[in-house]
Amino acid sequence: MINTQPKDTCVLVTGGAGFIGSHTVVELLQDGYEVVVVDDLSNASEKVFDRIDQIVGDDAAEHLTFVRADVADRDAMDAVFDEFDIDHVIHFAGYKAVGESVQKPIEYYSNNIGNTLVLADVMRNHGCKSIIFSSSATVYGDPDSLPLTEESPKKPATNPSGWTKWMIEEMLRSLVVADPEWNVVLLRYFNPIGAHPSGLMGEDPKGIPNNLLPYVAQVAVGRRDAVHVFGDDYDTPDGTGVRDYIHVVDLARGHVAALAWMDGRTGCEVFNLGTGTGTSVLEIIKAFSAACGRELPYVVEPRRAGDVTANWADCTKAREVLGWQAEFGISEMCRDAWNWQSNNPFGYEG
Ligand code: WQD
Repeated sequence: MINTQPKDTCVLVTGGAGFIGSHTVVELLQDGYEVVVVDDLSNASEKVFDRIDQIVGDDAAEHLTFVRADVADRDAMDAVFDEFDIDHVIHFAGYKAVGESVQKPIEYYSNNIGNTLVLADVMRNHGCKSIIFSSSATVYGDPDSLPLTEESPKKPATNPSGWTKWMIEEMLRSLVVADPEWNVVLLRYFNPIGAHPSGLMGEDPKGIPNNLLPYVAQVAVGRRDAVHVFGDDYDTPDGTGVRDYIHVVDLARGHVAALAWMDGRTGCEVFNLGTGTGTSVLEIIKAFSAACGRELPYVVEPRRAGDVTANWADCTKAREVLGWQAEFGISEMCRDAWNWQSNNPFGYEG
């Protein structure tokens, strides 16, 4: 249900049918925003909108419009901005599979960079210059020191997917230099995992999951035999890779906090969205085993090319400037991911 009175503020969410996008749409609707989603459903299911309606209720769902389109389709995007008075854009739309990007650089650069250039141009032509970009801790590369702050140096990416995040950040910074009226927020996500506590929405990757959590969840539900641990000889307490996992609902709420903060501002600002805590692969497997009630099998494999040993965030800036901080811990992330997976063994199309 809407927690506050409807705002007369309209937010365009590109990629809003995706994992992080859909959870952000729920939080926006519950906070009273008008929401327009543009998604081509190339990596998402239209069924997610039924789940959003169930979660937010009929009144809030009245404030949601879905337009099936490719963000790179200029005519479609012009039509959206002609029809709706868009105040802010949250830009999630893009391909994000690290391994696939190494095999398909042309598709990744043309889609991710191309759709952002069309979006920014259409925004400019319609007088909308306020955008939040879904960036990633991957722009920090292999850290020299931890925790990572927003001042930690950007490093060369290790794959085209990471390079597109890297390059789109720079493109959006350039907009502000060229035209100081632009209002840009770059949100650098650490490792988003988990699912909506209702069990109605969650991560639903197509094919074999690239990321750890959805793979572990599919082992737990019996779709996969064992977790493949990519290396146990890292310089970490148990030898396995360490990451800063953040609950997807905490991440979604970080977008709502950024939206409130940026309203009426100009310039470019970067925020790390993480928890400040590093967790290893084996600790994740242990936590998920506790959540699903059985010991999950795993086999140790060689390291995966491009993986860094460890990263985790310093989230002081988001806490002090946005008034936001993550609330859920690893056990809640695994609890909610298991609730989603066990109720939806084959995701939305299951
Ligand atoms: C986490 C840890 C692996 C799978 C990537 C992108 C980032 C963002 C999140 C898009 C590592 C280990 C993994 C498996 C394993 N993507 N692992 N077995 O690589 O930290 O980040 O996804 O938004 O931009 O870079 O996430 O979940 O793939 O890996 O042992 O089957 O789990 O080695 O230590 P990553 P991940």
